[in-house]
Amino acid sequence: MIASFYPRDRHRHPQALTPDYKSSVTRSPRYPLLSIDQTTSERTGPTFGHGDINPGDNDLLLNHAQTGDPIGERIIVHGRVLDENAKPVPGALIEIWQANAGGRYRHRNDRYLAPIDPNFGGCGRTLTDDTGAYAFRTVKPGAYPWRNHGNNWRPAHIHFSVFGTAFCQRLITQLYFEGDPLISLCPIVRSIADEAAIAALTARLDMKTTASFDAIAYRFDIILRGQPATPFEHQLEGN
Ligand SMILES: [Fe+2]
Repeated sequence: MIASFYPRDRHRHPQALTPDYKSSVTRSPRYPLLSIDQTTSERTGPTFGHGDINPGDNDLLLNHAQTGDPIGERIIVHGRVLDENAKPVPGALIEIWQANAGGRYRHRNDRYLAPIDPNFGGCGRTLTDDTGAYAFRTVKPGAYPWRNHGNNWRPAHIHFSVFGTAFCQRLITQLYFEGDPLISLCPIVRSIADEAAIAALTARLDMKTTASFDAIAYRFDIILRGQPATPFEHQLEGN
């Protein structure tokens, strides 16, 4: 069978140069991009095995707990990884990282006023199952200020990395939460010109998956290519 090829629709992805997002001015390339052929090592390895993942790695409520549960709004984030033909992508490694409920990362360079939560690490990982499904338990991250124009706040967000079967098959994006008024004000979000693409990064409240008297749920499907593809970043680390 001959597979269809879906070229990346760059209009849906963040523009490299968006001066309102100040650091994009120095980060963006000044010369035309070059394509570099991949070598065997990039196409084939290193890879990971199912044995590298522990069962509790997707539970951020417990995976760093020292003396009790982390502070914050308890949430379930779940969805499916699908290809351009809506077929499930099993065995994809999903890694997430996020700020705590106060908007503070557990990272030595984060000096925000909000306190570190001793019971929250902010990192998790899991593999998609045979239906392409994944799920995490965590707390809803807080908004935080960042140095851009003096009064810029990141909307609540969770960073996502999706690994395929080879080292070069890594995609990075961010999840936002339905109804957050900071989404439309954020210069990083605004580096995506297409409103439909921003909507694709916005997790939807999912009352069907809520755990009664425990956690509310948000749904976030990740589509790898084709018309409804999830926008991905061009940088390895983001704010
Ligand atoms: Fe962030």
